[in-house]
Order: sequence, then C-alpha cells, then structure tokens
Amino acid sequence: MFHLAPVSRCSIFGLPPGVRCLLRPQCTAILRRYQSNDARKRSLTIDGKSYPSDSWTNAPENILIQYGRRLHVQPNHPLSIARQLIESCFPGFQHHNSLPGVVTVDQNFDSLGFASDHPGRSKTDTYYLNQDTVLRTHTSAHEVDVFRANTSNGYTICGDVYRRDAIDRTHYPIFHQIEGALTWDRSAFKSSEHFSQHIQNDLARLGSAGVDVEDPNPTFHPERNPLQAKHHAAEEAEAIAAHLKRSLEHMAVAIFTAADKALKASDHAAQEEQEPLKIRWVEAFFPHTSPSWELEVWWRGDWLEVLGCGVIEQPLLIRADVPSRMGWAFGLGLERLAMLLFGIPDIRLFWSKDQRFLGQFDENKPIKRFQPFSKYPAAPRDVAFWIPDAGAAVVETPATTSSSPSPAGGQITAAPPPDTPSFHENDLMEVVRDTAGDSVEDVSLIDKFTHPKTGRQSLCYRITYRSLEKTLTTEEANDLHEQIRRELVARFGVELR
Ligand code: PHE
Repeated sequence: MFHLAPVSRCSIFGLPPGVRCLLRPQCTAILRRYQSNDARKRSLTIDGKSYPSDSWTNAPENILIQYGRRLHVQPNHPLSIARQLIESCFPGFQHHNSLPGVVTVDQNFDSLGFASDHPGRSKTDTYYLNQDTVLRTHTSAHEVDVFRANTSNGYTICGDVYRRDAIDRTHYPIFHQIEGALTWDRSAFKSSEHFSQHIQNDLARLGSAGVDVEDPNPTFHPERNPLQAKHHAAEEAEAIAAHLKRSLEHMAVAIFTAADKALKASDHAAQEEQEPLKIRWVEAFFPHTSPSWELEVWWRGDWLEVLGCGVIEQPLLIRADVPSRMGWAFGLGLERLAMLLFGIPDIRLFWSKDQRFLGQFDENKPIKRFQPFSKYPAAPRDVAFWIPDAGAAVVETPATTSSSPSPAGGQITAAPPPDTPSFHENDLMEVVRDTAGDSVEDVSLIDKFTHPKTGRQSLCYRITYRSLEKTLTTEEANDLHEQIRRELVARFGVELR
C-alpha cells in the first residue's frame, strides 16, 4: 500500500495544540533533536501516489501500514454494522464510503474556515505527509467537494480519520467517523417565508422521536452561538436547526434502542435496570457550523457525548459554488458507538484479525454483545526522566479527540504555549506506538516534579503492556520497555532517572 524512501532534516515539534499543563514556559532555544525515522525518508508513496517529504512530514510507518484496511466496509465488521445502522436512519441520502483518507491541508482545514492558528493544524496533533498534505483528521474534509458535486440533497460520508493522541482503551490514532448533511435550495422558493415553511413541513413529517429532550438554550446566542445574520434570516436558520435536532434525535433513539436490546438479550439483570433514554442539547463550537451543538444521551447512568452538529457556515457553501443552498451537518465517531452497542472493551480490538473477534458479528442478525475470549495479564512498567532544559513540556493533553466531536484535532479553548516545547506528550505516545505497537493498552502520567533548586522538570509515565492476543512474558515486556527508554533518550534528549 505504501513505501518509504530516505531524506534529511525534520523537526517533529510544531505549534503545540491545546494544553492542560505547561511546564517551564520560558523562551529558550528550540530543540531539533528528534527526527522521525519516517520523516527522514525522501517521499511516501500511498495508493500509488508519491508525496515528497519536507520538514512537516511526521506520519509514521505504524500508521501508514494500516491505511487502506477500510474496516468500515468490511462485511460483518462491527464498525460496518454501526455505519449501516446510522445510514438506515437517513433514507434517500447518498452514502459515500470510499473517499480517500489522504487530503490536502486546504480540504481538511482551509475549505472549512479553520483559522490559520487553529490548534488542530499543529504537527503535534495531525499527521502530515508534507506541508500540503495530511491524513484527514475528520470526514468534514470532504464537505466542500461533495457539496460542489451536488448530486444529492442529503449525504453521509464515512471513513478512517487520523489524530495524534493519547494511548488508552478508548483512543487509537486511527478511528472512523460518519458525517451527515442535508441542504435545501433556497432559490426554488419565492420568499424566505416559503422556504422556512417548506422546512417546517419536512420537520412535521419526521414526527416526534418519542424521547425526553432537554434543550435549555435559545437557538441563537449573539456571542456563544450566533445566527449567521449576514447570510440567513432567523426563521430560516430556526427551521433548519429544528429539523437538524429532530433528525438526530431519531438517530440517537435508533442507536440506543438497538444497544438496549443487545444488552437485554445478553444480560437479564439489564432488563430491570433500564431507565428511560434522555437527550440533551449543549451549545458547541465548530469552525464550519453556526450555531452549533453537541448531542448527549443519558444511557444507563451516564451522559454520553454522541455527536457534533450545526447549521452549515454559508461561506463554505459559497466556496462550493452552491450559494443558494442552506442546511445542516453533523459528525460522529463510530468506535465509541460500536463499543457501546456491542460491549467491546478495548478499541484495539477493531483492528484484530483474530477470528475469535471477527467471528462474533453478523450484519444480518440482531446486534449481539461481544463475548470476551480472553484477558491476558497486564505488565505495567514506569519510566521517569528529566526533560531537557530548553523549552516547555506539554503533558496531560486532553485525550478526548478520537471519540468526542471536538474541533478536529485540538481544543480551541486552550491557549497555545508561548514557544516551541522541548517535549510534547503526543511525541512520547508516538515512540511507544513505534516500538511496542498494539502491545500497549495505556500510557498515563503518574507523577511530575520540579526540582526546587535547579528548576528541572521530571516526568514519570506508567506504560501498561498487555497484548490482546497472548501473554507477554516478563522478558518481552522488559525488552519493549528498554527499547522505549532508549528511544526517549535518542529522540528527545531526556535524562532517565
Ligand atoms: N468535524 C467535526 C469534528 O470532527 C464534527 C462535525 C461535523 C461538527 C459536522 C459539525 C458538523 O470535530
């Protein structure tokens, strides 16, 4: 599917994304010690196309090797079953399931109106093939193209998306999203009232979703969630927002009813525990929609973030040469839903080729809960080190991007640190993945410490080794851990403690 060829210089440190904890934020020399093995290659070839490497290249082999697995269309794969369940909620929509995961920076960010300093653009959050080309961080990257082609009023786009992120049982650097959008052509109506009325009629045909809905905020808020007053009449956007919410409430009911059925079929106790489903709408922000919301579902004792959505930014439709169309869009992460539908406990399982996993799913039968076939013992190992004196360290970055619909690849709310960090947690995650692959279940910061005299920063991470396929021997775990320790020194110049 791809091959790599040798090149020169590259620094992995780019503009950092949202940060929870910033250590030693003083300005110092930028460290350029770390050169990704893969970025040193002259070019990357993916699907027969060659991408010359440059100082932005940071997509590693262990990610590219998975490119093209197309799990979301593999017969009887749980991600494909989840996709089909969602598609079935939108009759008449066109379903795009083969759009390529390699996109331009323009498609992924600019076409959607992402600010030039949006944290999602950072090399610490996004995999670049080179300065113009990325592995898409969300399926929204195709919105403008699909709107421009204008072959249907409604569509879904499903595919693999890529984000540099933490390692734990619900996060994996590749995951899948499904995007949906519906637009109407304003020019087909003689007035704004007729247009709005038409959408209201469509809404009435959807009927009630038969569920408790909390929606405490007005549709628009001048600062937090504005009407696009330059482009939309309030009644038009109101009608579209109402249609959007009702459509997604129906979808949420369909998904969680299926999840409930599966749970009840496998566990009799679950029948008594059932509480009625509830839905709530929370104001949100996305560069490509306004107003925007997240939909949350109360299911078995928790509020779960299910999706992000909103009224499509009109400049995006103008850019797509369909200025008279207006409508809504949503996006959601498939893994999170599939984990809950099937009771799959670890996100790495979706990539398994083991028949004990794959053999449990049948797209022609009602959804059945996954039966864990084995649980091998965990082998935790700690690594503690002093970070280099120069620059800041970015740690405890929010590990939420792969399942929640946050703005692609970064939290817009956190301020970027003042200078290039000497250590970014996502780079450590990459070293762990490069070295130990899917044999690592979790990586967590367990201690950080500043030396009172020297001001040096020390970090301690716990790496939990656990294979899904076999018991790792003490030796194997020690070996992997030793390699990771060596790589940390070689790539970041940390001093082991
Ligand atoms: N693209 C957004 C994300 O991945 C989700 C989204 C899609 C939000 C469409 C609004 C509309 O974070």
